[in-house]
Amino acid sequence: MNFKNILLKIFKNDVYVKNYWKNLNLDSNSHPLKNYIKYGIKEKIFLDYVIQNIDHEKIIFEFGCNAGRCVRYLFDNGYKNLCGFDINENAIRLLFENHSKMAWKGLFIAGELENIKNIFSKFDVAICKGVLFNISHHEIESVIEYLCKADTIIIFEGADYGDFIHDYHKLFSNFGFSCIHQEYFPYGAKDTWNDILSAKSYARKTAVYEKNKFLGVFKRND
Ligand SMILES: C[S@@+](CC[C@H](N)C(=O)[O-])C[C@H]1O[C@@H](n2cnc3c(N)ncnc32)[C@H](O)[C@@H]1O
Repeated sequence: MNFKNILLKIFKNDVYVKNYWKNLNLDSNSHPLKNYIKYGIKEKIFLDYVIQNIDHEKIIFEFGCNAGRCVRYLFDNGYKNLCGFDINENAIRLLFENHSKMAWKGLFIAGELENIKNIFSKFDVAICKGVLFNISHHEIESVIEYLCKADTIIIFEGADYGDFIHDYHKLFSNFGFSCIHQEYFPYGAKDTWNDILSAKSYARKTAVYEKNKFLGVFKRND
């Protein structure tokens, strides 16, 4: 863990965390944006739930889409109504450079949530992978409220680790949503996870950082 990450862990300061994500670039020491261009096995695990359960015609909005690897996987699997938002402008630029066909067909924007709220006026499904645990306790409610414009929200987040740990069941229930499906991905406990573990270097990383990934699907109560 580098010095910046150690500071991040110690201080967990709202502004610090936000600026951290905002200022990352292609080759930053940690979380370089180039890592978010191409999808890999983790994105597939998360998004295969979407592919198996969500109609191709639905408008899918990714909150915290970075350079577009998740939406690109959906695009490659026949989804055409895709849009996304990220706080990091460099990431959205990379998304346009690397996934231009998808980018120009959809709507992808960088900025502060406050400034874009009216731009994405309607979407059917919101997806969010590895983002909410970067959102501070002060801001999480307004983010969840925004995601709840959708009828279905699918998240893949740290269950009990991250800069900010949230109770997703409670947060979504405050806005009239219930969890209709959930899965935990503890180290080595699932077949799909075992596939991943065949790559030994990945297995070492997962043992430390990915002990409890939570996939949660929240649906608006009838
Ligand atoms: C771990 S990355 C995950 C990126 C993407 N979901 C993926 O899996 O490829 C976290 C992302 O959340 C974004 N992010 C962090 N705080 C944010 C905020 N307040 N609003 C929007 N995006 C944010 C970051 O810029 C970054 O792209």
